[in-house]
Amino acid sequence: MPDIKIIPVLTIDGPSGSGKGTISRKVADALGWHLLDSGALYRAVGFAAGMEGLDLSDAEAVTRCAQTTRIGFRDPKDGSETRVIVNGLDATDDIRTETCGAAASAIAAIPSVRAALFEKQHSFRKAPGLVADGRDMGTVIFPDARFKVFLTASADERARRRYKQLKEKGLGVTLAALLREIQARDVRDAERPVAPLKPATDATLIDSTGTPIDAVVTMVLALVRSPRRADP
Ligand code: DC
Repeated sequence: MPDIKIIPVLTIDGPSGSGKGTISRKVADALGWHLLDSGALYRAVGFAAGMEGLDLSDAEAVTRCAQTTRIGFRDPKDGSETRVIVNGLDATDDIRTETCGAAASAIAAIPSVRAALFEKQHSFRKAPGLVADGRDMGTVIFPDARFKVFLTASADERARRRYKQLKEKGLGVTLAALLREIQARDVRDAERPVAPLKPATDATLIDSTGTPIDAVVTMVLALVRSPRRADP
């Protein structure tokens, strides 16, 4: 059995709307590596809990939900957005709503929910490599990752990006409400006692405020391809 630890991992952590999702996808495509969208796992559990009508503060019920929910990712052949299948249902659009994001943030504060998703996240580590996008990828899930990035952007800029994204999907939101939601989520994610949002001590910090996505992708790729870092 080959040692799984030799498979390189690039972790990209950061707050909601920092561009992590788009940047992680582009970097994974450029490298030909697998992609783990860990936020989608938390969102999927939040969605499943909602479908079951669970009280999100009922840690026991939500943990059981995290343990039993079947979550799959399917890449359409035409190269369009990855589909997220939750208990056999295509929940791709549902999990992206702000309601589902807030539910994900709430259940993500429960340690046993995080524990329930631990193995699932590790199962994405496959050759030739993995780009892992989330909040605690470099600190808790893949502390041994060879490359670590912490991506930030101002709350205003993140709200504007998210507004544009949701508008394009035809979802009705206001910029002010989004900004409030993003700020509240930042506080919840950063202040929770378990796996709070914070940069790994060995992460490279990138502030993407005012920087085009493709320029950030180039910076991240340079980090992975730098000969000094590329050696195990
Ligand atoms: O990245 P995202 O916005 O899709 O994540 C949704 C929520 O899930 C976020 O508010 C916090 C939680 N999350 C987490 O706690 N740990 C992760 N690794 C990824 C997401």
